[in-house]
Amino acid sequence: MPYGFLDIALTPGVVAAQARMGVDQHWQDFKGNRRFERFTEAEAAFIAERDSFYMATVSETGWPYVQHRGGPRGFLKLVDDRTLAFADYRGNLQYISTGNIGSDDKVSLILMDYARRARLKLFAHAEIVMPEDEPELARLVAPEGYRAKVERIFRLRLEAFDWNCPQHIIPRFTAEEVSAATRMMQERIAVLEAENAALKARLAGAAG
Ligand SMILES: Cc1cc2nc3c(=O)[nH]c(=O)nc-3n(C[C@H](O)[C@H](O)[C@H](O)COP(=O)(O)O)c2cc1C
Repeated sequence: MPYGFLDIALTPGVVAAQARMGVDQHWQDFKGNRRFERFTEAEAAFIAERDSFYMATVSETGWPYVQHRGGPRGFLKLVDDRTLAFADYRGNLQYISTGNIGSDDKVSLILMDYARRARLKLFAHAEIVMPEDEPELARLVAPEGYRAKVERIFRLRLEAFDWNCPQHIIPRFTAEEVSAATRMMQERIAVLEAENAALKARLAGAAG
């Protein structure tokens, strides 16, 4: 079964749960090829458009820990077809992701495009890189014009990705997307408001 994501996700417990539900054979018989261990142009374009994602790390006590990451569109950089990187800041002084990665480098990300109802999830190994050790990478991940100091870089080595179905993703739009979609309407309103003001002024003039 060339299905990279499931090769990782299908632990004995998961397979047992599938068996209890009578669907384990469905995956054993899977004939498709979803190796998905290298990003293609489709994923590269999708990643370049993202302004946020969620990343789960694993704690030493076995708890999953999920953190939201946000930045300018494209702040999660594709270094090559198996490598991602992003900047980490001083933040809330908790260093939970950093600490977790120190003991277990396995991470899982989910990237959402709410407007187009698409989601990309992936497994990767994370590595912490100090900006002074790799200045070129530091330049790549530092958002232009953003004054916060990059404390470290998370470099992620892809193991496998998968696309989820769009079901149950409720479309949501960023302020930027709403503004672009309503720009024509706003321009029309501005013209009408100006016209209204001119008419009011003319009426006031005629009355006086
Ligand atoms: C000056 C400054 C800039 C920050 N910039 C970002 C940012 O661009 N994106 C982001 O997701 N978090 C940003 N943060 C928040 C921290 O990075 C975040 O709290 C931290 O990564 C939490 O990590 P942890 O949950 O793994 O402990 C910033 C925090 C500070 C203080």
